[in-house]
Amino acid sequence: MQITNDVKYVGVNDRITDLFEGQYIIPNGISYNSYAVIDEKIAVFDSVDARFANEWLSNIENTLNGRSPDYLIVQHMEPDHSSSISIFAEKYPDAKIVSSAKSFVMMKNFFGNDFADKQIVVGEGDGLSLGKHEFKFITAPMVHWPEVIMTYDTADKILFSADAFGKFGALDEQEDWACEARRYYIGIVGKYGVQVQSVLKKAASLDIKIICPLHGPVLNENLEYYLNLYNIWSSYQSESKGVLIAYTSVYGNTKKAVELLKEKLLENGCEKVAVNDLARCDMAEAVEDAFRYDRIVFATTTYNADIFPFMRTFIDHLTERNFSNKRVAFIENGSWAPMATKVMKVMLEKSKNLTYCENEVKIFSALNDESKEKILLLAKELCN
Ligand code: FEO
Repeated sequence: MQITNDVKYVGVNDRITDLFEGQYIIPNGISYNSYAVIDEKIAVFDSVDARFANEWLSNIENTLNGRSPDYLIVQHMEPDHSSSISIFAEKYPDAKIVSSAKSFVMMKNFFGNDFADKQIVVGEGDGLSLGKHEFKFITAPMVHWPEVIMTYDTADKILFSADAFGKFGALDEQEDWACEARRYYIGIVGKYGVQVQSVLKKAASLDIKIICPLHGPVLNENLEYYLNLYNIWSSYQSESKGVLIAYTSVYGNTKKAVELLKEKLLENGCEKVAVNDLARCDMAEAVEDAFRYDRIVFATTTYNADIFPFMRTFIDHLTERNFSNKRVAFIENGSWAPMATKVMKVMLEKSKNLTYCENEVKIFSALNDESKEKILLLAKELCN
């Protein structure tokens, strides 16, 4: 695949991994992107998951028409991008490895080898020339690991953005970008909004025409759209108006309350109501929705004098990613001593700028006239 005259795609699609990074379902696979920049010298950007090393090496070979790479630029050391470095170094023993100082420490830790005879260590503002193509390196710590660098190509105005602007989904999959990019971002990088903001500020000073991420499609038009979404996500603003109802239900009674609330929210003109049963949905999708919408309702049962386990896990996912800036409501169920709301409020103390609704719904086992009335009031309050 040609990206510009001199820049070619040499990455691979993965449709065999069940859980990406050990936890995220990827029903449409994922790509490990790699790029060859062909000039007087040749640079390859990042390797791929080791299970695809042979396919990647043959992509490089087929693309270079008998030439060999002079540089392997390693922007990120997570194994989905780094685990074929050694096999590359064996095949191309004269190629230099260009990366941050922290990456070489990680190479020693991962592979027992930091390629001392091939190292070119780069940091913020350092450059590398291939001839016509002049690269400038940008440090991007915690987007998504501490060693990460990004690279700007001044010739073709390309930002090689490492994990940033990546998404789940193999490249031959036709699907909406934002849906799987948001699930990827919130799940994997969501905690590091401050660091993403700092990279976005650096990017703002560059004239970028193309973004080449390490996962998902190359972005070459309407870049404002993608940059704007990254700004919203990394500054913990809500992207869409709407209510997420995240719930657990043991015998279906809390679920009935959730269904009634959804119906009343829509009757009151709420723009969008998303509902996630935390025991059955993809947890990453529920977490994504929580960050996306401006209002959230937590509905759960009291369980072992605490809250139902899936809700505890859900709230942990939110608070560890700096969940903030939302209107929040609670529905609790308990057959003899409801205390779920109290427990959830304690868990959410870590979050900033949450506004709690006045109407809190308390259910003793099943809905009754009083709790139904409270749900109507809550629906009105959430739609105001
Ligand atoms: Fe795609 Fe953080 O690795």
